Amino acid sequence: MDTKIDTENDRIGIVGLGYVGLPLSLAFADAGYDVIGVDIDRERIEQLHDGCSYVSDVSDDRLQQHLDSTFEPTTEYEALSDVVGVCICVPTPLRKTGNPDISYVAEATEELAGVLPDGCTVVLESTVYPGATEDVVAQTFTKNGSTVGEDVFIAFSPERIDPGNEEYAPADIPKVLGGVTAACSDRAEALYAPVFEKIVPVDSSTEAELVKLIENTFRSVNIALSNEIARAAHEFDANIWRTIDAAATKPFGFMPFYPGPGLGGHCIPIDPQYLSWKANKRGVDMRLIGLADRINRNMPTYVMRRMEILLDEEGIPMPEADVLVVGVAYKANVSDTRESPALDVIGCLEDRGASVCYHDPYVRQLDTEERTYESVRLTSELLAEQDCVVILTDHSTIDFEAIVDYAPLIFDTRNALDGLTNENTDTVYRL
Ligand SMILES: NC(=O)c1ccc[n+]([C@@H]2O[C@H](COP(=O)([O-])OP(=O)(O)OC[C@H]3O[C@@H](n4cnc5c(N)ncnc54)[C@H](O)[C@@H]3O)[C@@H](O)[C@H]2O)c1
Repeated sequence: MDTKIDTENDRIGIVGLGYVGLPLSLAFADAGYDVIGVDIDRERIEQLHDGCSYVSDVSDDRLQQHLDSTFEPTTEYEALSDVVGVCICVPTPLRKTGNPDISYVAEATEELAGVLPDGCTVVLESTVYPGATEDVVAQTFTKNGSTVGEDVFIAFSPERIDPGNEEYAPADIPKVLGGVTAACSDRAEALYAPVFEKIVPVDSSTEAELVKLIENTFRSVNIALSNEIARAAHEFDANIWRTIDAAATKPFGFMPFYPGPGLGGHCIPIDPQYLSWKANKRGVDMRLIGLADRINRNMPTYVMRRMEILLDEEGIPMPEADVLVVGVAYKANVSDTRESPALDVIGCLEDRGASVCYHDPYVRQLDTEERTYESVRLTSELLAEQDCVVILTDHSTIDFEAIVDYAPLIFDTRNALDGLTNENTDTVYRL
């Protein structure tokens, strides 16, 4: 079978230009491919044409360099009529019911089946439940008259990027890949080999799907364990971060996970639900996933309760309190607020009647169920006026020293103030 790839002349398509698809497009462009990026969001495509990146890991300069040569963003699927391969990077959220919403993948695949040339390789990168590459992507092409493994080559490859982590570029992260047939695996591997340092082949697309779900379920369950132990450690008057760091000195059998105000982002709170939903359909009850989810989702309420107790000790009832939330992105050094625990913490504080404002250097505006907030400037006056400052995200650019210097009461859910000592540190309380 001809799996020859010529990156100098071959064009490739990336469908969905978000946190995953945009960096992936540039990784393929770096390897020499001409990249057509397709997104249905007109505003995003216009922004990209203007050289403005909305993904913090992609600089405007880098984007512009590729726009001048090898990267073409468009809303038109027809632009994919002569590509050798396509990667699908569209969202896979949960429905209101908590069940997987695979409709974006289904819609993108329908479009692709109508425009791709014969012999094309299609790799799904969106996180899905086990079996979805076969059930949704392969089925759509089959329904359109193609034979998978002959006219079209279909595989799954989990996206494993860690937004905000400058240590690992997408191309440096080993790329797990599994085809619907052996021929599909060969084609997908040939397509990806020029881009990634290391390909990790697995036996099927379903195995590759499961790899991603294990990784993120592992994180969700271990973070839940740390959150639960943090609550116990507080009752024992023990510093949970020092305890975990000391435990991590054991050279085997322990990996540190840290507590926080809850889970966020488009992956860790969502992906385990994809696994448990599908397993449940096969008669397997994944109780640990459900329990971890409940523990993690309960953290924002716990944070609010701890703040309420601290404020009570100062004689300030929550409905009269001015509270500054520091950091609303779901994790450090990114602008992403999807599923951010800050939304729930702010919601809890609003429900209890507190006056809330927030500061986040990455997030200019935030919509909660109640209202739209704008990030405030972190000044000594603003800090001194607060009854309580709660740290929810430890962005590296935030002036934590100023917070310790001027805020009268601080609740730190990220251990961001560790090591900062001055005469005010007795006003700092940790999760
Ligand atoms: N964000 C992460 O850190 C991360 C990491 C690993 C895996 N993933 C997975 O990758 C997938 C994409 O996540 P993301 O964070 O990049 O999402 P995103 O919302 O940032 O980007 C998705 C893009 O797809 C576009 N889109 C939606 N439907 C489309 C269609 N039919 N045709 C073309 N474009 C369409 C949207 O307009 C959007 O720009 C999800 O399955 C997610 O679980 C995300």
